[in-house]
Amino acid sequence: MDAFVITGPTTLMGEVSISGAKNVALKAFVASLLTTDTVTLHNIPIIGDVLLMLDVLKHIGVEVEFINNTVTLRSPDSLIHTVSLEVGAKLRTSSLVVGPLLARTGMATIPNPGGCRIGARPIDRHILGLQKMGASITYDSTDGFFHVEAEKLHGADIIFDKNTHTGTETILLAAVLAEGKTTIQNAAEEIEVDDLINLLNMMGAKIQRKEKRVIEIEGVSSLHGTEYKILPDRNEEVTFAIAACLTDGSITVSSSTRSNLIHFYEVFSAVGGGIEEINETTTRYFRKFPISSIAIETRPHPGFMTDWQAPWAVLMTQANGISEIHETVFESRFSYVKELMRMGAVISFFDPKVSNPESFYNFRWHDQPEGYFQAIRIKGKTDLHNAYLAINDLRAGATLVLAAIAAKGVSYITGVQQIDRGYEAIDKRLSKLGANIKRINEGNI
Ligand code: EPZ
Repeated sequence: MDAFVITGPTTLMGEVSISGAKNVALKAFVASLLTTDTVTLHNIPIIGDVLLMLDVLKHIGVEVEFINNTVTLRSPDSLIHTVSLEVGAKLRTSSLVVGPLLARTGMATIPNPGGCRIGARPIDRHILGLQKMGASITYDSTDGFFHVEAEKLHGADIIFDKNTHTGTETILLAAVLAEGKTTIQNAAEEIEVDDLINLLNMMGAKIQRKEKRVIEIEGVSSLHGTEYKILPDRNEEVTFAIAACLTDGSITVSSSTRSNLIHFYEVFSAVGGGIEEINETTTRYFRKFPISSIAIETRPHPGFMTDWQAPWAVLMTQANGISEIHETVFESRFSYVKELMRMGAVISFFDPKVSNPESFYNFRWHDQPEGYFQAIRIKGKTDLHNAYLAINDLRAGATLVLAAIAAKGVSYITGVQQIDRGYEAIDKRLSKLGANIKRINEGNI
């Protein structure tokens, strides 16, 4: 296993290109199961989660070729309907194959999905939707697999009680080849969902977003192959914007998608972040004013994304005053806090007063384990110093890397494979921007 050795503080300066969006790529691979034609996908990031998801598809019989950042997938006439525990349990998106496997084989057997350990992350909303479309689903606790069957799924009116990003995508992927019309109400608005819709429509699906949170899918009898370039990763762009402001540097980002970052920009500018539009797809980020404190709350799109709150916390350690972060999407996304405190950050946990927590929070509030807090207070400005740090999840990993770049001294970060799951060659790209970061074998620390 790899570790990073980072010597700080450094000021990050230069240019960087944003990779394709992980959270589109993984679902786009699944879309290829809906046809026996070839599907070619461009702008695919070379990251751990992509390789794991391609493994899931290979195990069920898909022919895969991955050259540079292009993936070509072809599903043969016959597919294996079981996703093995060995590959499937490592990745939350493995459960998305259910709909396409039902359409192709009438059966799907999938392990309880994995992914980042940021809460319980059940898939009950996905299951209720699939059941409404005619799927018979049983969970066998003796083997840890969901066993799903349906001769043919049919259209249905699905109303999600709360936002679910991959739940919406699960239903989309199941409904495109179902009999009749499916309507998803309270559908996720995330732009990654819309990119998947674009791809599916290019393959011959009939999907329309009728209103912001209503999607209508008219089932078709077959789909065909296509070639598609997936959108850039907005989470990565936010990470670099924060890195520029945090280190008082200047990072120019190509493949920038400003229109997807409107809410982030409001908050970023409010605390002193600078945004310069160089051209339509190039943006420069820097620090315009001394960083000031703010209280933010994570929300599903178009709100402040939960994926941004961990790197945001590092920025707030450099703000004068008290900042707050209230996490409302996942019940356990503060694993990085104790690591930041090891570096000198002054952070305390608290539970904000919420009048109706069950409907306010996106997770199942009544199932929340004892001892979880939904918010943190960060007292700044604090000079961060070096430490030995361990990474628990992807965004938390990027956070600790940024903190170590801004901190004084030599920091050691273990669990780097978590960052590699979602960021392509993060160490090489940060080095080019001036970071003093080295990848070593964990055993050599
Ligand atoms: C997706 O997670 C992304 N993952 C996450 O990115 C992202 O943070 C999140 O959406 C919000 O945009 C992928 O796209 C692979 P949800 P997902 O279903 O689909 C609860 C990253 O690092 N819930 O909208 O899991 C759930 O536990 C990852 O790139 C249920 O209770 O998000 C969570 O608390 C991390 N039952 C909340 O709802 C369900 O059936 C939101 O989940 C489904 C969800």
